[in-house]
Amino acid sequence: MKITLSVIKADIGGFVGHSTTHPEVVNKVKEVAEAGKEKGIILDTSVITCGDDIAIVMTHTHGIDAEPVHKLAWDAFIAGTEVAKKLKLYGAGQDILSDAFSGNVKGMGPGVAEMEFEERKSEPVIVFFADKTAPSAWNLPLYEMFADPMNTAGLVIDPSMHDGFTFEVMDVYSGKAIRLKTPAELYDLLVFIGATSRYVVRAVYRNSDGEIGAAASTQKLSLMAGRYVGKDDPVLIVRAQSGFPAVGEVLEPFGRPWLVEGWMRGSHTGPLMPVSFKEAKPTRFDGPPRVIAAGYQICEGKLIGPNDLFDDPAFDYARERATQLANFLRRQGIFEPHRLPPEEMEYTTLPKVLEKLKDRFKDIGEPKAKAPGSGEGEIHE
Ligand code: 13P
Ligand code: 13P
Ligand code: MG
Ligand code: MG
Ligand code: MG
Ligand code: MG
Repeated sequence: MKITLSVIKADIGGFVGHSTTHPEVVNKVKEVAEAGKEKGIILDTSVITCGDDIAIVMTHTHGIDAEPVHKLAWDAFIAGTEVAKKLKLYGAGQDILSDAFSGNVKGMGPGVAEMEFEERKSEPVIVFFADKTAPSAWNLPLYEMFADPMNTAGLVIDPSMHDGFTFEVMDVYSGKAIRLKTPAELYDLLVFIGATSRYVVRAVYRNSDGEIGAAASTQKLSLMAGRYVGKDDPVLIVRAQSGFPAVGEVLEPFGRPWLVEGWMRGSHTGPLMPVSFKEAKPTRFDGPPRVIAAGYQICEGKLIGPNDLFDDPAFDYARERATQLANFLRRQGIFEPHRLPPEEMEYTTLPKVLEKLKDRFKDIGEPKAKAPGSGEGEIHE
């Protein structure tokens, strides 16, 4: 059976501040999603949360970008927003950027990851869900899962994966995408996806037959709204086993934390901490950034799960290490590189302060520098 797995997520109100969701809001979202199942729009649904974000995981047969499915998720978030407003939760309706639904949630605030496939004899999938970060957080682990044999032994020892995988990479500013084949074009791929502020991995396909292995949400909220509206807090779907990385190979990159953007006011770098569902409640300096892994076996379109995959003491070291890194970075307060550079910050007073003090900048006889990559002129002209 050909099925579509859609994960649509939004922050519709934080309890308290931006730390977590409120059960009444989550229950309302679940109620609307479940009603969509009764009406036959979807085959099954599972609602998961990470920090102040809610994701609706859905299986159905309408393909990707399907209006009834996107409308169902939209209606669930609108209904949840009403509850959040009633409770005066923080940022009620935060990621709902439009008043009216028009065919598809893309560009309207919620993040979307979707893929269509023929359900295998056994179909293990993992939905990763992160808070206080951005879609570029998936670049490093996707590279390790699908292109690094030091992480994924299967790339070397499993004949069904030995031809490697193709990455679809999107430039978030132009909206254009490029497909790069690994291992042949690995170094070209890394030139792009190492530049996390601009390029994000959108999907991964198996070279031998073009089968999809991963799909990520790539929506950049601040670019949609033209102003700070919180971080994108992304989702990622990965299929595992039988021609794809094993579940343990998919989870392995999270065994050692790395730094991502999006902590405090969307304007700081912090370690991504893999946590169990109940620990996905970022409070320290509104973080550090969290990621959960919800495992499902799909059976005739039904979602068997979720299994809380980071609820494993083997990830304790990563959590401990992330706390050490958080301490180290916090030492640096408002100073870069803990605080993001001005172009990357989600909000900044720099233009206002510059405007106020511009007449006090005096020529001291130093040569004028060229802004890197942007032709003539000063960086903050
Ligand atoms: P089991 O024998 O526990 O099924 O392990 C299979 C395997 O290869 C896991 O990577
Ligand atoms: P959220 O995108 O999770 O709402 O984060 C907002 C923020 O900047 C918290 O400090
Ligand atoms: Mg929020
Ligand atoms: Mg959030
Ligand atoms: Mg957010
Ligand atoms: Mg087994």
